[in-house]
Amino acid sequence: MSTMFYNPVTTYSGNGSIQRISDLTEGQKVALVIFPEARQLGLTERIQKLLGKRLIYIVEDIQPNPDVSQLAQTYQQFWKQTADCQVIVAVGGGSTIDTAKALMAGTASGRFDELQAWLAEEQTFSPTHCKTLITVPTTAGTGSEVTPWATIWDHARQKKYSLHLPCTWPSIAIIDPELMLSLPVHITISTGLDALSHALEAIWNVNANPVSDTLAIAAAEDILRYLPELHQDPRNLQLRSHMALAALKAGLAFSNTRTALAHSISYEMTLRYGLAHGIACSFCLPYVLGLAWGCDPSRDQILRRLFGPDREYAQAALTSFLHRLNVATQFSDYGVSAPEAEQIIQSAMQGARGKNFIGSDNT
Ligand SMILES: [Fe+2]
Repeated sequence: MSTMFYNPVTTYSGNGSIQRISDLTEGQKVALVIFPEARQLGLTERIQKLLGKRLIYIVEDIQPNPDVSQLAQTYQQFWKQTADCQVIVAVGGGSTIDTAKALMAGTASGRFDELQAWLAEEQTFSPTHCKTLITVPTTAGTGSEVTPWATIWDHARQKKYSLHLPCTWPSIAIIDPELMLSLPVHITISTGLDALSHALEAIWNVNANPVSDTLAIAAAEDILRYLPELHQDPRNLQLRSHMALAALKAGLAFSNTRTALAHSISYEMTLRYGLAHGIACSFCLPYVLGLAWGCDPSRDQILRRLFGPDREYAQAALTSFLHRLNVATQFSDYGVSAPEAEQIIQSAMQGARGKNFIGSDNT
């Protein structure tokens, strides 16, 4: 059987690689989308200096889990002010990069509700204009820097939209571990676990292929090894570099497979209980691992390599890994009753991501 792996994003990585944004944007007008705390860290000013006169617009009021209510105003203002700007540079974590992806796709009316209507109907949408996106992740986790997907929330309607268009692939990702040194420990852990979830979800996935497997295994091995060390030593640049590359590999893996059941469960946990994405998509990994085991011998072989000889041993090993990072692993730990947990799992299985899971009933 022939398989395909495709990813069009050019990646630059290494300490100090942020410097490249000057050369990469030469002769173009740039809008910067950056997380609000970056100004206090001196990062916004540093990037302003690197971009010089080509920088014409800054968006920095980024909310965690970007919501349509706030995006609408930002979007309309953005398109009014940046008509002659070709490039967006997005610097931040998943919420920042996802906001940039929502901004880059221009509607005919210049209004966000036009885009939102397309998202709500899950119809193919052809933007009338699309800007080029350069992503600079400041967390080792999201993978959004090398995928075309953005998650957009409508908390008022208890909905989550997935934006993905041919034009929302970033053109370039710059992975600079030095930018991750100041990340608080709890965000380091939650984003690192998001990356672990991406790696495992790429493995227990009906769309897995030999290239995504290679990337996902390497990512999972490195995260299992280095994230606990980084938890103890968050200023260690070498460990930051290992995690940055592991998250990139996990992102590349799931850019081809998409995510699966753990992410499908996470969306309900975020909507109903406000859980941070990285925790919401990782607390249930031992449970999902238990469901995946025994579905496909080739997947079992990989899971055995990562976690141990049999299902119970593997689940215990992954549970203990999460507990060492102070992450509780039961639905009840988050206030979810057993019947509600069952309902969340069943509805997650039916979701688009749930159907990517090897243990789901795809018939
Ligand atoms: Fe994720």
